[in-house]
Amino acid sequence: MAQAEGTPDIPDMGRRQFMNLLTFGTVTGVALGALYPVVNYFIPPSSGGTGGGVTAKDALGNDIVVSDFLDSHNPGERTLAQGLKGDPTYIVIQGDQTLAKYGLNAVCTHLGCVVPWNGSENKFICPCHGSQYDNTGKVVRGPAPLSLALVHADVSDDKVVFTQWEEKDFRTGENPWWV
Ligand code: FES
Repeated sequence: MAQAEGTPDIPDMGRRQFMNLLTFGTVTGVALGALYPVVNYFIPPSSGGTGGGVTAKDALGNDIVVSDFLDSHNPGERTLAQGLKGDPTYIVIQGDQTLAKYGLNAVCTHLGCVVPWNGSENKFICPCHGSQYDNTGKVVRGPAPLSLALVHADVSDDKVVFTQWEEKDFRTGENPWWV
């Protein structure tokens, strides 16, 4: 039976050609390896395939598990977690012991201090220059010029997923200043 025409004749490939191929492969491999971090930089972290969102993490960097979290926290609490871009972000537990659909970026809109939650006063009070925000993060006393930034907080697979809030601010009815 005749051999099919066009079959590559590998044994006849010249030594130089073979070495060229080898060199090309090596160089390409090195180049791709070098490009990997660059390419990676432009791809948003998937964090579980949540479409650009991040999974809320505790201070140790572990994912917050909603069922455990609710068991160990009380209604009305605001608890810090790591949010989008690593920003400190409050998870809000509502009066009925469910999570609010929003989280609050804890960075003061005055000069950037992290604003602690004051449960007895039912508001956030900045220790740096005394700005105050109500329990939804709406500014109620300066010098802070703006309310705390909002993020979406959704539960998926028993984890809290933060995503960018691009809609109107439900506290003021205005466009979000942080987008
Ligand atoms: Fe919060 Fe100035 S940084 S009041």
